[in-house]
Amino acid sequence: MSADYVRTVRSASLVFGNTEPLQDDPAEGYHESSKLYPSFAARQTRGRLLDTHLGLRVSSLRSVKRSSHLPAVTLPEPALPSAPFGDVIEARRSERAFADAPLQLSDVAALLHAAYGTTHELDVGAPGLGPQLRTVPSGGALFPLEVYVLPWRVDELPRALYHFDPLRRVLERLRQGEFEEDVRAATVYDDVALGCGALFVVSAMFWRTRFKYGLRGYRFALLECGHLVQNLLLAATALDLAAVPLGGFYDRRVDELLGIDGVNESALYAVATGVRSGGDG
Ligand SMILES: Cc1cc2nc3c(=O)[nH]c(=O)nc-3n(C[C@H](O)[C@H](O)[C@H](O)COP(=O)(O)O)c2cc1C
Repeated sequence: MSADYVRTVRSASLVFGNTEPLQDDPAEGYHESSKLYPSFAARQTRGRLLDTHLGLRVSSLRSVKRSSHLPAVTLPEPALPSAPFGDVIEARRSERAFADAPLQLSDVAALLHAAYGTTHELDVGAPGLGPQLRTVPSGGALFPLEVYVLPWRVDELPRALYHFDPLRRVLERLRQGEFEEDVRAATVYDDVALGCGALFVVSAMFWRTRFKYGLRGYRFALLECGHLVQNLLLAATALDLAAVPLGGFYDRRVDELLGIDGVNESALYAVATGVRSGGDG
């Protein structure tokens, strides 16, 4: 062990405190339990039976929470700008300051489409089911995520709590209300979460992937949430909007606001987006 290495470890503990993992560190325990091994992969992912049964396969294609009894806003045909991909990748930055000008409903439609919209029909040998594959990949095409929207300033979208149904391309209006106080109490970054034009919240319905992939399904839900949010952020950049991902929130309060139980479905991530103000914030 070199003297340099020892010095680095010592100074790291000055910054991060004691870096020794706990004996029963939950993160290490979870990661270990969700590793696949050739000798018992079959036991770990029993739900793979799904792949061999057409009826089950078809029944898993409508992976969205649906409340068709609620009033819904039909989203306009999504129109993503044809910005050069390299420029978009290079330009993305987190921006936390937003102009007072409202977002357009077409912006919200484009952002939602980039995030989790449908693009292709899945080939299960039963054509005509309509597109269910999305703009992002998903383990086993099970799509365990849901997207909610709180529009603070969006033209033609009255303030309410909405849920995105990508298969019908609508925003279901879950609840009317102001929600400022709920959001203020639920986030560490209330100036950003309330100052933006629209707040998007992504949740996972864990068992939509766990029934097939067991503990590893939880990993998949988190990985897929990253795919979704990155698409949303890149779409915001392409549309010349400001956006920042938010992981700093009080989970139970956000779950309560969304009306979800925090166990079968729980909030994972949020994105604040709006018209650019010019400043970084
Ligand atoms: C998982 C994750 C959680 C984040 N949570 C927050 C947050 O709660 N509040 C915030 O202001 N920025 C948040 N950010 C943004 C980071 O601060 C930002 O990405 C980082 O400073 C790098 O800057 P850039 O995005 O402009 O490249 C988060 C980013 C990630 C990836």
